[in-house]
Amino acid sequence: MKFSSCNGKEEKYSRLREAIKEYRNSPGPLIQILDRAQNIFGYLPKEVLRFIAKETGFSSSRVYGVVTFYESFRLHPVGKYTIKLCLGTACHVRGASAIVDEIETLLGIKRGETTKDRKFTLQTVNCLGSCALGPVAVIDGNYHGHLTRRKVGRVLKEYQ
Ligand code: FES
Repeated sequence: MKFSSCNGKEEKYSRLREAIKEYRNSPGPLIQILDRAQNIFGYLPKEVLRFIAKETGFSSSRVYGVVTFYESFRLHPVGKYTIKLCLGTACHVRGASAIVDEIETLLGIKRGETTKDRKFTLQTVNCLGSCALGPVAVIDGNYHGHLTRRKVGRVLKEYQ
């Protein structure tokens, strides 16, 4: 398979080839290879999945099946900042749905999407283990609790 050298693509595929060689004979090689591929490319585009299937001999459906089974694998690029907003019970009863609506409006994206400038990705989760802070979101590893519609706008500005 030949790739153009734009954006260091060739170099990325070369690193992926090395990872495939390294993990080929280890237990559970596919997960390790996919994990390395995601580190290299930032996510797992279809083209990369086809490459992995071809190089490893695993069927495309097996590769795709593993990717879609584990939440940690991403099929789409993510933004510089990932917003993980909790919609678990404790946060839900304190108005987390309104916070999601507000973020979607402010950023012009829906859950699971990334802004066009690739700055933010919005994800919802079931619990962040900080129920007392609800509604709570984690952005770039920072916890933001007791969110209100007004407060979440201010919080997002910190990352602009
Ligand atoms: S339910 Fe939201 S942090 Fe636990």
